[in-house]
Amino acid sequence: MPRHSLCLTLALPLALIAATASLAHDGVKDPKVKERMQIMKQIKAATGVLGSMAKHPASHDADEARAARSDLIRLSKKVAPSFTTKAMDPKSEARPAIWNNWDDFAARAVALTTAAEALDPTSPQGVAAGMAGIGGACGGCHKPYRD
Ligand code: HEC
Repeated sequence: MPRHSLCLTLALPLALIAATASLAHDGVKDPKVKERMQIMKQIKAATGVLGSMAKHPASHDADEARAARSDLIRLSKKVAPSFTTKAMDPKSEARPAIWNNWDDFAARAVALTTAAEALDPTSPQGVAAGMAGIGGACGGCHKPYRD
């Protein structure tokens, strides 16, 4: 078999497996729900970088912390817009209370932006202190608005 067709034979099934895995992972059909979950996942990733640095001060890297902080600020500003439409899905954990208390929900998204802005990426202490505020902001919204 020529080399290029062997490559294709391997690449195609792998691509299909990857596509199926990501579909099975969320199983969400509504594109608006998918979008907001995607934003939350990116928020989780950026928070994970900072959280792990806060836990292991020796791993502190100011550039990395600065980048994660910027990501978090940018992503936090997408939260309220991504929930503007009342989209629901059986897999969604969003509570309908979001749309009955919209101003409060939006304020909790702003609280995450503010907490991320307050993080000082230049020292391990700054990251740890900032992470406390950021963690509080996640919980401040998840508690009332996420199942
Ligand atoms: C203003 C409200 C709000 C803030 C702030 C917020 N979240 Fe969320 N988050 C939600 C809601 C609502 C859901 C449920 C979305 C759904 O299932 O439709 C959610 C879902 C998630 C999910 C699950 C996504 C999925 O794939 O189902 C993760 C992970 C997550 N949030 C992480 C975070 C982290 C980490 C923070 C803080 C850095 C944070 N969130 C801050 C409202 C918020």
